[in-house]
Amino acid sequence: MDTAPTLKIAPNNAAFHTLAADIFMGALDRMQDRAAAKNGPIRVVLPTGSTPLGLYRELIAHHAHRRDLWDRFHYVALDDYAGLAPDDRRLFSNWLDRDILKPLSIPSSHRTIFNSAAPSPSAECARMDALLDESGIDIAVLGLGTNGHIGFNEPGSAFDAQTRLIHLSADSLAANAAYWGGIDHVPHTAYTLGLGHIMQARETILLVQGSHKADILHRMLHDPISTALPATALRRMRNVTIIADQAAISAAEPSPQT
Ligand code: GLP
Repeated sequence: MDTAPTLKIAPNNAAFHTLAADIFMGALDRMQDRAAAKNGPIRVVLPTGSTPLGLYRELIAHHAHRRDLWDRFHYVALDDYAGLAPDDRRLFSNWLDRDILKPLSIPSSHRTIFNSAAPSPSAECARMDALLDESGIDIAVLGLGTNGHIGFNEPGSAFDAQTRLIHLSADSLAANAAYWGGIDHVPHTAYTLGLGHIMQARETILLVQGSHKADILHRMLHDPISTALPATALRRMRNVTIIADQAAISAAEPSPQT
């Protein structure tokens, strides 16, 4: 499936989450043989945000019995706020711990996360990059920022960017305010994996839900590929599936492949 992104459209909210879960489990199944041959893990990047929450609920409710896959599952952080204590509930790693990793009994030894409180951010980024250089990402599940960001690769991020510390854009501060009850609670700096590593993922699933994402999804699919819109990088990647709900597909979208 080395082609342009495949667009899958879900007619409603419930269908969006079941479709996402089915496609995600299919990807895990495809990675299983490769991982088993090496007796190694399946390395999976997972996003935070409101969009993937239904997928996580679906995986816990209907796919938790696939211990053959979950026992190989290894979570790799996509992004996280910087400068917070390890037990801060705003950390994306703690959010995912609550919403998917603990419920699926993924042990802490199967998690590669940012040390938000690392004394040297540059050493912390180098540590992540060294791990990714060695093992790569098997499956990247991604969300789409309303400004076209991927992880926290904000507009202007180079397609070969490495892991780094970034200052959240005004758009991202505003979007993240919804998670924490106001913009004053949103940390201003964050770590993000770079597009350089994300673009090498063996399979990628992009989740896009809601009419507020229609404009940016349309631009991601049709604007010139450019660092001004980081999500256009997905059009240069292999094995990308975009799962969108009807609301995120603007009326202008040419007859999509479902
Ligand atoms: C944050 C995260 C992104 C996520 C985005 C979309 O900015 N850093 O990784 O994709 O939110 O969030 P939502 O799904 O709530 O729109």
